[in-house]
Amino acid sequence: MKARRKASAAPRRQVASAPGSEGPAVVELIAAQQGEVTYPIHVGPGADAALPALCEGADQVALVTCKRVLATPLGARVLAQLQATAPLAVVHLLPDGEKGKTLAELERAAVALLEAGCTRRSLVVGLGGGAVTDAAGFLAATFMRGVPWIAVPTTLLAMVDAAIGGKTAANLPVAKNAVGAFHPPRAVLADPDALLTLPARELSSGKGEVVKYGALDASLLSHFAEACAGTRIDPAVIAACARMKVDVVREDPNEHGPRKLLNLGHTYGHGVEAAGRFKRFTHGEAVAVGMAFAFRLARRLGRVGDAAVATVEAALARAGLPVRVPAALARDAVHHMAFDKKRTAAGLRWVLPRAEGGGWVVEWDVQAGDEAVAETVDEIAAGAGTPRRRTRSAKGKR
Ligand SMILES: NC(=O)c1ccc[n+]([C@@H]2O[C@H](COP(=O)([O-])OP(=O)(O)OC[C@H]3O[C@@H](n4cnc5c(N)ncnc54)[C@H](O)[C@@H]3O)[C@@H](O)[C@H]2O)c1
Ligand SMILES: [Zn+2]
Repeated sequence: MKARRKASAAPRRQVASAPGSEGPAVVELIAAQQGEVTYPIHVGPGADAALPALCEGADQVALVTCKRVLATPLGARVLAQLQATAPLAVVHLLPDGEKGKTLAELERAAVALLEAGCTRRSLVVGLGGGAVTDAAGFLAATFMRGVPWIAVPTTLLAMVDAAIGGKTAANLPVAKNAVGAFHPPRAVLADPDALLTLPARELSSGKGEVVKYGALDASLLSHFAEACAGTRIDPAVIAACARMKVDVVREDPNEHGPRKLLNLGHTYGHGVEAAGRFKRFTHGEAVAVGMAFAFRLARRLGRVGDAAVATVEAALARAGLPVRVPAALARDAVHHMAFDKKRTAAGLRWVLPRAEGGGWVVEWDVQAGDEAVAETVDEIAAGAGTPRRRTRSAKGKR
């Protein structure tokens, strides 16, 4: 069990010009490092202005996106920019969301690139949410045994999580992300204005991850939650989240230690997502419930007090995220948590807070007994129409 180190979330600003804007826009530049590879992450309005320079040297450029994203103002701008400044050979549209992340679709995409004349000196630009950046990245990792790619994330979740860290993937019919490769992009260009066209639930999904980064550092939580209260997310907060992921990935590229901290709220959250058949809750909403669960479980284990639970739940509520689920689903979620059926919930390793100073630190590899988990399920369960009801066992511990 190890305590996390504090992340450096202070924004570093750099001034650059945004296309079509009157004055200079603030674009934050973060240097991501993965093994031998270093790449820049640009966050701010007009971040895609860096595309022409990044495409230099490529014999052909392939834009991989989906119809919905191409129809947005950012989609139109990126297309126009590539047409005007780069050797754009093909625009390949993937089916929306997870449907575009299959091996069959990757085969179709690779054929389209070949037919358009792409070679091992070509470059892929992946423009879209995490599904597109995962698929475009995997295509780049495998086309001609690997070509460079640039990620232009257009969802909040992709800007703070999916497009950072170099993991690319496709789904198999039996399992999500079952095949993939580590293939860091040449750059990540995140323009928060893209989020203006994002459906509210998709934005809320990303908010779950933003509040998670806040909860990893108690001193940042209320600021990050406040940033999620409206429909416009402060680019500085997006950049701070990206930097936190960059810092953790740099420290632990192979996910043996500190990177597990990023799974705060994900153990029970994955169970909630699966129990809701991946439709009822977005990933971020499920993670929000999972975070409320993690803090309540930590309280049952005597690791934090009431104040920490209240603080994290208030932050989640401020961001418009759920902290309770109906009783039947709350119980069902336990059976969907990622552990071997032969083992008990006690065999799971949790990512949980522990009180320190006036706040808390988050630790991974924490064990919790079956009884504590079951009692926390009772706490998290909301009866229909009585979302804040607590069970007797929960009350008994207060
Ligand atoms: N590689 C990693 O490290 C990593 C990490 C986390 C998640 N992921 C993956 O990310 C995926 C989820 O990504 P997501 O949450 O971004 O969902 P998504 O990519 O499925 O996008 C959600 C929806 O929003 C639409 N959309 C995207 N940008 C838009 C915009 N600007 N305006 C309007 N509509 C827009 C998409 O077309 C889609 O319908 C999953 O496949 C997950 O496995 C990968
Ligand atoms: Zn997540």
